[in-house]
Amino acid sequence: MGRKFFVGGNWKCNGTTDQVDKIVKILNEGQVPPTDVVALWNCCIAEVVVSPPYVFLPVVKSQLRPEFQVAAQNCWVKKGGAFTGEVSAEMLANLGVPWVILGHSERRALLGESNEFVGDKVAYALSQGLKVIACVGETLEQREAGSTMDVVAAQTKAIAEKIKDWSNVVIAYEPVWAIGTGKVATPDQAQEVHASLRDWLKINVSPEVADSTRIIYGGSVTGANCKELAAKPDVDGFLVGGASLKPEFIDIINSAT
Ligand code: G3H
Repeated sequence: MGRKFFVGGNWKCNGTTDQVDKIVKILNEGQVPPTDVVALWNCCIAEVVVSPPYVFLPVVKSQLRPEFQVAAQNCWVKKGGAFTGEVSAEMLANLGVPWVILGHSERRALLGESNEFVGDKVAYALSQGLKVIACVGETLEQREAGSTMDVVAAQTKAIAEKIKDWSNVVIAYEPVWAIGTGKVATPDQAQEVHASLRDWLKINVSPEVADSTRIIYGGSVTGANCKELAAKPDVDGFLVGGASLKPEFIDIINSAT
């Protein structure tokens, strides 16, 4: 079976209750291809997951059209307890939040999350029944130094060392230089890294995991550039930041067709 197109919307640290209402209305009224929820659709071609800040998760989850899912933007690395300010994977599972984004470059850079820490988080979140959008990607300096694949492979290896089952993992390749800059990777640049990453999975994990794991692209994706990117064989969808707060997110979902 082919890999189902995946579109994630990462709202990051944005939104007020009014703005959240508006975004949910846009999402609920948007014309999109049949999307994923097995009970509702037999023929689904895309899976759509939006990720509001923690405080808005319950309201978005309760108001969002049922075939769209929600994700948290992070979770704690192990079981909850005396960890002020953190939210545990089991709390998300308890709330019925199915997905979590882990290893986003903003957290790696601003909060010092190491490859190993991200690997531990992915393993713990999976152990609690969450599905994970695991982010990897190189900085501009690393790309210019020719080490893109080394960086992305090291980030993926740190996850591969901690997990066995990849069926609930989506990898988001997000070059740091493309995030929020308006400088999107060209379709060929994205395809090159996605194909290399798939080869890495084939050699280091298994051909089955390489074939079935979705590798999505993130970094200045818009309604205007998504179609060309989506046409590449190893681009299995998107993780969208800024444009996920706007009506054009619907166009991005529709690039699955
Ligand atoms: O998680 C999403 C990425 O950081 C991309 O953000 O679409 O605003 O560049 P962006």
